[in-house]
Amino acid sequence: MSVHKEIKKITTHTLHEMKVKGEKIAMLTAYDFSMAKMLDDAGIDILLVGDSASNVMAGHETTLPITLDQMIYHAQSVVRAVNRALVVVDLPFGSYQGNTKRALESSIRIMKESGAHAVKLEGGSEVADSVRRILSAGIPVMGHLGLTPQSIYKFGTYTVRAKEEVEAAKLISDSKVLEQSGCFAIVLEKIPSKLAEEVSKKLIIPTIGIGAGQHTDGQVLVTHDMLGINKEFHPRFLRRYLNTYDLVSEAVKNYNADVKSGNFPNEKESY
Ligand code: KIV
Repeated sequence: MSVHKEIKKITTHTLHEMKVKGEKIAMLTAYDFSMAKMLDDAGIDILLVGDSASNVMAGHETTLPITLDQMIYHAQSVVRAVNRALVVVDLPFGSYQGNTKRALESSIRIMKESGAHAVKLEGGSEVADSVRRILSAGIPVMGHLGLTPQSIYKFGTYTVRAKEEVEAAKLISDSKVLEQSGCFAIVLEKIPSKLAEEVSKKLIIPTIGIGAGQHTDGQVLVTHDMLGINKEFHPRFLRRYLNTYDLVSEAVKNYNADVKSGNFPNEKESY
């Protein structure tokens, strides 16, 4: 008899069932093996290999520079660690916009080379054809509306989106288009809570909010932000669960002092 308990993997179907039952979905970003292992073991439902890796891992100012090859490298590392969570990978800037064939080819590369379970792309009606084409290859697609960081140079700022009626109406209509095109879930980033509630009620598929209030079907944060690995970024929607920067800083200072004083290693730590 096996002593290992069968782990029930999260699928796009599970997420739909969670919405029906009113169970909230927890999603966090992951870009490497060690962090992904901790997040998966802690019971996070979806791990997003976000193109925020461009900021968080590589130190770029925007998400635009990260390449498809780099996203695949991060996704491979995350997939190796995961037993339960659904792994979703961002299609990076330039790998899908304005070209449904490229969108399909980029998605196939991600799925084939990393073993991830789904892809995510930004935008509404303008990416609907790509969503359908990617789905035609059996690849699940997550949408992303509201603040879409790949369009930062069009918006000019990272402030709350869809506060005005026209933009809010467009977002509602885009969410419907994405659902009808076959998306299994939609990220709603930095939009008013009331609008996110309305969209979440209108859709059959789950919504995952970041800075979109408490009425979405799930929540997502950038792991490095919620763990306080980054110190500088503190928008209103971010709850910090740990001050990792200070904890690491303290530990590293202690190590540095121990090495310099000759206190490390001691006899017990030697062969
Ligand atoms: O890349 C990312 O981290 C994201 C989340 C903010 C949703 O897209």
